[in-house]
Amino acid sequence: MEERTATSAATFSWDDARAHLDGLPDGGLNIAHEAVERHANGPLADTTALRWLPRRGDPVDLTYGELWTETSRFAAAMAELGHLGGHGVATLLGRRPELYVTALGTLAGGGVYTPLFSAFGPDPVAMRLELGRIGVLVTTAAFYRRKVAPVRDRLDHLRHVVIVGGGAADLDDPTVVDWADLVDAAPAGTPARRTDPEARALLHFTSGTTGTPKGVVHVHEAVVAHAATGRAVLDLRPGDVYWCTADPGWVTGTSYGIVAPLVHGATTIVDEADLDAERWYATIAEQRVEVFYTAPTALRMLTRVGADVAKSFDLSSLRLVGSVGEPLDAETLEWARLVFGAPVLDTWWQTETGAIMIANRLDHPVRPGSMGVPVPGITAGLLRLDPLGELMVDADGAPVEVTEADEVGELALRSGWPSMFRGYLDQDERYRRCFAGPWYRSGDLARRDADGYYWFVGRNNDLIKSSGHLIGPFEVESALTEHPSVVEAGVIGVPDETMGEKVKAFVLLAADAEPTEDLRRDLMGHARARLGPAVAPREIEFSPELPHTRSGKIMRRLLKARELGLEIGDLSMLEGAPGDAEAVT
Ligand code: WT7
Repeated sequence: MEERTATSAATFSWDDARAHLDGLPDGGLNIAHEAVERHANGPLADTTALRWLPRRGDPVDLTYGELWTETSRFAAAMAELGHLGGHGVATLLGRRPELYVTALGTLAGGGVYTPLFSAFGPDPVAMRLELGRIGVLVTTAAFYRRKVAPVRDRLDHLRHVVIVGGGAADLDDPTVVDWADLVDAAPAGTPARRTDPEARALLHFTSGTTGTPKGVVHVHEAVVAHAATGRAVLDLRPGDVYWCTADPGWVTGTSYGIVAPLVHGATTIVDEADLDAERWYATIAEQRVEVFYTAPTALRMLTRVGADVAKSFDLSSLRLVGSVGEPLDAETLEWARLVFGAPVLDTWWQTETGAIMIANRLDHPVRPGSMGVPVPGITAGLLRLDPLGELMVDADGAPVEVTEADEVGELALRSGWPSMFRGYLDQDERYRRCFAGPWYRSGDLARRDADGYYWFVGRNNDLIKSSGHLIGPFEVESALTEHPSVVEAGVIGVPDETMGEKVKAFVLLAADAEPTEDLRRDLMGHARARLGPAVAPREIEFSPELPHTRSGKIMRRLLKARELGLEIGDLSMLEGAPGDAEAVT
């Protein structure tokens, strides 16, 4: 009970939260020390930190002691290659132990870790490796062949490619080294580097509506928020069996797939396989999973398979099911609550916020369909927008807060929490635009009911949420216009029962191109090859013209209004391309 009171909003302070961590001499803080090293040197040394369930075959366990051995070896190997202290290390891997060792080893050595989504095609991979100035990539031989080799000559910063799972010798690239030769041979036990709490630690890429993806910079101090929310929301305790199903290529996979559970001394399940209803229920039952963090898309897929499948499994170990990434409707929540026999808690946050900001919690009545209330230490607010989605300001130029219950505004957070992003890499102006006075603007629209619960309404921009992944329309449009038959493309998200939204492209063809089924298939293939299946459009429509703003930008908001059969005015609060409504050409 004591732990619960310590996390209640009234008594919470970030300083107290910091005090729960170990820290390093002279005010230092290192995520890898908090997550692994201190447990390896304490009573949890022999507790299982990571239980890997390979696609086929027996589970592989790593205790905190063993995980630290591997982690410190990786750090030593990077130091040997001359790669730590500010140099980027990225993974392009599925769920396997080397990903965790790379992430933690990079942090232990004082480097910056970047996960890449393994379903990305060569274009998104190359773009992010270059923007992030990544010096070392850890991947498999198969991914190297498919996603790196085609763009290798574009990767000016990449100095070493570390291959896990064998096959390095067959790759014709002098920068390739075999994980076994490099890491297994490195000395273990070097302590984590004393990094400053404000030292860069994580670089996550997220999509923008225009231009290149944004490199979201997080520092070691973020661990304070990972730890605090891991306790306040996910209720994590030492020895808990915890399973986060998020892909490790995205921020949830780091904040709550690696850092939060390990900081709390939990045993974290890492399942190499993709979603399969029977396997999931069996895993929860066999591993006695207590805390399960997943996504609405996954829950909706489970509803599709049906509750009967769950019946033959004993899911009674579950204490809490968390959800993140997209709206969790009340119906799916209720279904999941009954099937899992545990509270289902929706949580809201973003790559930029680094940790959960708004959530339903065990110590609060759950309000199905709502995202919950701000977590201890976080002040949320709603900023008033004009009908075109522009921020309203008072006479002094300060943003105006929504005061009425249920009035829609832009969801904002008071700046200054530990895991707040410290910048968009090399894009200061873009970073500054996220703030208005004391507020960080999320870009989401929400309302707050009379009891202070927040309800998701939509986005205030063109970003697409598909299966929980944020997709930037610009990146998809760019890949399509690379095709010789395409002059221009406009990409939007359209509602989809399972994925939330799916990517749809409207394409203006070159004068000499025929709008045939063959060409459509060819474009689909082109987009999938360049972007990977998770980002490529599911639907392509040939369009004789595309709407533009006066400044020449594609007006995606209008494309969407037409697609959904709405008046443009209906969408102005939902899809802002602020100020553009009168400027359609
Ligand atoms: C966007 C952030 C948070 C880690 C994974 C996604 C949407 C997130 C919810 C929720 C409705 C949600 C928002 C947000 N989102 N959680 N509980 N209900 N929408 O991080 O890729 O940066 O995406 O995901 O639109 O802004 P991300």
